[in-house]
Amino acid sequence: MSEPLVLGIETSCDETGVGIVRGHTLLADAVATSVDEHARFGGVIPEVAARAHLEAMVPALRRACDEAGIALHDVDAIAVTSGPGLVGALLVGVAAAKALSLALDKPLYGVNHLAAHVAVDRLEHGPLPQPAIAMLVSGGHSSLLRVDDVAYAVTQLGQTLDDAAGEAFDKVARILGLGFPGGPAIDLAARAGDPAAIAFPRGLTAAHDLETHRFDYSFSGLKTAVARWVEHAERDGRSIPVADVAASFQEAVVDVLTRKALDACTREGIEHLIIGGGVAANSRLRALVTERAARVGVTVRIPAPRLCTDNGAMVASLGAHLVASGIAPSELAFPADSSMPIDVVRV
Ligand code: KG4
Ligand code: ZN
Repeated sequence: MSEPLVLGIETSCDETGVGIVRGHTLLADAVATSVDEHARFGGVIPEVAARAHLEAMVPALRRACDEAGIALHDVDAIAVTSGPGLVGALLVGVAAAKALSLALDKPLYGVNHLAAHVAVDRLEHGPLPQPAIAMLVSGGHSSLLRVDDVAYAVTQLGQTLDDAAGEAFDKVARILGLGFPGGPAIDLAARAGDPAAIAFPRGLTAAHDLETHRFDYSFSGLKTAVARWVEHAERDGRSIPVADVAASFQEAVVDVLTRKALDACTREGIEHLIIGGGVAANSRLRALVTERAARVGVTVRIPAPRLCTDNGAMVASLGAHLVASGIAPSELAFPADSSMPIDVVRV
């Protein structure tokens, strides 16, 4: 039998993604984003995102089938993000996937969004090295995972206690007047700045924090420190050195992210690190993790930026791995679960 042809649907946040994968090969990746509709609010508005998914779903399905040169009834299985994410947004994808599964009489897999962020790397670099540590950093999550098999054995080592890494980028960009989404704007501004200009705090890295939160992150203290620094400078009548603030903030985030991810590799005795999520597009993160990983003998896999951000191909990729691993499909009555635990790969 040829490798399974799997359609994947993603609607957990503000991207409507429909991807089509055969085995490890990406055939189509249609993504529509409602990011512009949220820009003036400085963050994703759940109701606006859900409405946008409704409008984008059918056109995205059509685009993906055209791009892959297939008809819907050709697919062997359908996979959909069933959580975690915004519940109203998830519901649109789950309802669409259930309708397709019933109408086409194809098996359906309700899958975990975070595991899908890990599985997407198969499409770019081939079968996943396992066990691996995965660091997922986006606007909605900052997690360190141990992945023994992305089909069924994923455990969480740590996560953010407050803001996600991308959320911190977005909030600091707002403080600096750099627009939304903030990550790319800070990445760009920081290139002209000095990362050592301001010593911003490194959350949860003190010895006493490491005892209880070794693999957890915290970025809200850093965000507040940036806001205070800017306020003081303004009060003193100084102009804000935007490039230096951006570079120093970015350095604080990527220093902690890379340190903890590589510490997890060392302590768990694992030689492979996979990075995903929108923040994985950050140029300083990519450079620093590559340099530090080489020093401790860890290989790093980071998919291309367009596969790091939310898309349907990642869901299809996880679906293809589940089918190939002989995992049974989901019962059709599964719900959208906004707080789906990470150790549940498929519902
Ligand atoms: O994965 P993603 O597209 O959506 C979710 O949040 O799930 O990630 C979006 C986040 C935003 O917070 C954005 O500011 C951040 O990823 N981001 C970046 C960069 N590009 C996107 N953060 C830092 N540097 C970047 N180059
Ligand atoms: Zn995501």
